[in-house]
Amino acid sequence: MSESEENSTSVTESRDSEGESTQTPQHQDGGNGEQHSAIVASHYNKIQERGLVARKKSNIYFMRNFNNWIKSCVIDKYTAQVKGKTPLGSPFRVLDMCCGKGGDLIKWSNANVTHLICTDIAQVSLEQCENRFKTMYQKERDFQRKPKVEFFAADATLQQLRSKYHDPSIKLHLVSCQFAFHYSFESFKQADCMMKNAAECLDEGFYFIGTIPDANELMKRQRRAMSDTFGNDIYRIQFLCDTDNPPLFGAKYNFQLDEVVDCPEFLVHFPTFEKLALKHGLRLV
Ligand SMILES: C[S@@+](CC[C@H](N)C(=O)[O-])C[C@H]1O[C@@H](n2cnc3c(N)ncnc32)[C@H](O)[C@@H]1O
Repeated sequence: MSESEENSTSVTESRDSEGESTQTPQHQDGGNGEQHSAIVASHYNKIQERGLVARKKSNIYFMRNFNNWIKSCVIDKYTAQVKGKTPLGSPFRVLDMCCGKGGDLIKWSNANVTHLICTDIAQVSLEQCENRFKTMYQKERDFQRKPKVEFFAADATLQQLRSKYHDPSIKLHLVSCQFAFHYSFESFKQADCMMKNAAECLDEGFYFIGTIPDANELMKRQRRAMSDTFGNDIYRIQFLCDTDNPPLFGAKYNFQLDEVVDCPEFLVHFPTFEKLALKHGLRLV
């Protein structure tokens, strides 16, 4: 995925209405689903869990730290916003959509989340996430802070997540989708489904936060390289779409990052993302 690319972070707030009749472009919808989800799932499932020592030796150790720092800043900021809007001691309910191996579990624990839903398309990653969660709360002292938790595998671009929650009428305070929403930009239908999943259980006035690759930066680098393939020792991008006039959906490129990622991804046209969010009652803040 997008670990070495310049990233952009977005935050949207849930509104009470469905939003005015915002026109979401129906053209350039990426066709009727050349589905890459299975490729992505199989790719992430194959990534070995490496210990801390191996991770420290990795070429992308500092980049990972940087990505984690960005996520921590956003999570801390919006945790504070949630706490500011809810009475002391209130429940704090979070959906970690595309949670992977649980890279943000410690962040959720530090935020004193009381109910955490973790979901990802990659079953193996999800199992690793669940195991990590179990070891985190082994000590009795920690046990008392243990949140209610739900883990399940699902394709967030094709399936309704809500129907898989223990309580489909749950009201969430934070939905987080870190380094993953861009996979849905394969087609309008998939992006629309993922946005609906992000929005439909958010309590009014609460937040959807996320991090995605910066499509403008990728296009800039492609232009600068004057080639559809560019990169360095650490990462390589190969565009597999019309780079003179990229489609709004299905603007595909292959992303390779050191030894960890080799996957098809899709550019996210941010104004389109914003319109889609509005359609589902989410306003950019
Ligand atoms: C780069 S990883 C990020 C994992 C985690 N959010 C983090 O920040 O550590 C991207 C994750 O998105 C998941 N993903 C990709 N497409 C998905 C889809 N259609 N539905 C659910 N998860 C998906 C992948 O399996 C992978 O775990």
